[in-house]
Amino acid sequence: KPSRIGLYGLGVMGKSLALNMASKEVQVSVFNRNLKGVEEDVAKDFAATHINDFNFNWFDDPEKFVASLERPRNIVLMVNAGKTVDVVIESLLPYLEKNDLIIDGGNSHYKESGRREQFLNEKGILFLGTGISGGEEGALKGPSIMPGGEPKAYDRIGDILENIAAKDKNGKACCAYIGPGGAGHFVKMLHNGIEYAEMQFIAEIYHFMRFSLRLDQERIAGIYEKWNKEMRSYLLEISIEILRKKEKDEFLLDKILDAAKQKGTGGWSTKAALDLGVPLDTITSAVMARIISGKKEQRVMAAEIYKTKPDKKEFEKIEKSLFQAFKAEQIINHAIGFEMLKSASEEYRWDLNLSEISRIWTNGCIIKSGLMEDLVKFFSENKEDNLLLHKEIVDFMKDARQDLIIVTTQALQAVVPMPGMSAALNYFLSFTSAQSSANMIQAQRDYFGAHTYERVGRPRGEFFHTKW
Ligand code: 6PG
Repeated sequence: KPSRIGLYGLGVMGKSLALNMASKEVQVSVFNRNLKGVEEDVAKDFAATHINDFNFNWFDDPEKFVASLERPRNIVLMVNAGKTVDVVIESLLPYLEKNDLIIDGGNSHYKESGRREQFLNEKGILFLGTGISGGEEGALKGPSIMPGGEPKAYDRIGDILENIAAKDKNGKACCAYIGPGGAGHFVKMLHNGIEYAEMQFIAEIYHFMRFSLRLDQERIAGIYEKWNKEMRSYLLEISIEILRKKEKDEFLLDKILDAAKQKGTGGWSTKAALDLGVPLDTITSAVMARIISGKKEQRVMAAEIYKTKPDKKEFEKIEKSLFQAFKAEQIINHAIGFEMLKSASEEYRWDLNLSEISRIWTNGCIIKSGLMEDLVKFFSENKEDNLLLHKEIVDFMKDARQDLIIVTTQALQAVVPMPGMSAALNYFLSFTSAQSSANMIQAQRDYFGAHTYERVGRPRGEFFHTKW
């Protein structure tokens, strides 16, 4: 029987998605390129492993794989982002016909997805650049899905994507058409940017509690557990388990080298923010924190040279502020992330629906949290507003500002870096300052380069120069 969908690429995510679809009674053909010189047949083995539960049509020949699909064909690519996507598309093209649809479910760059959509559309082939979040478990049990491309492409496959997606608290699918071109992958990129910053917040507060406040891991796990009753954050939830995980009698976390890796999406968010001219402090600082963490040998050497005896800080004195500061930085990070989506939407005319985006991020994805659920309502009522100007948020932030200052300064006094929290605080203080320091910047620019400046009390866009 012809398959409704073809799944190309049986890595961890591809396998999980194939199983997810099959469990929803979607007939799937699976294909994996066999590496030269490697005997193993990935697609065949995968089908054999699950033979008792599902009947996958498996192939090791792209022509037969394509021929096994219902017309017009729907093919999901779950391959490594980058060049591989183009190579795979090229290899499939000879067998495709007008109206066939390719869905790229990897973490591709949004500009590449825009380019691929155009390239394929010229050949009459439809394309959806689709962000999929949730890791292996999400892909298997229900991810959050962010498809971008032509609406008619979404109409073709939307029912399957919605069927396999996670469900929000009202039972609605955590999958929605995002917008044209690279919009789906842009939104996924920003999802990952927000993810980077949220991870950094949890990591640096853990680090502060463990190495400066000298709490043991069990205690930190307990504190995070208490916080998470309110925050309901997936990242916090897994961090609690991570803190408690033991290998024999020792904590596994202590055995993991403190040098972070990254595959790119966080840094792409920063680059995109520079292109759009929007601030992205929290996300950028999280990217940079990963980069500096990677310089382990240099850090060890410098730590020896600069070693110091900081004053001891007491957890009990700072406990309440720590929790408030954590909540505040999460809010600031989301405000920054969603402002960026708004700017991109205007710049690229994507007409992004921020309420729908936050809704499909309430389940299945890595950044699901209680705050995300609040944002669904917030963005449905306040399409234009900045989150930080919303009445309830203002009431909270007015108090929490002081907590952010207390925790950041205490950590810095204790000679502990808090890049994520400092970035959130500095962004917030800058955002809420009527007078910035930029009059000096403008004067300096005009002094050495005659770059001109605008004047207080004169219309914006009118420029002056002084002979300094
Ligand atoms: C998700 C994740 C995932 C992402 C990694 C990338 O939403 O499921 O965002 O798609 O690939 O988390 O992270 P690194 O850049 O840290 O490798």
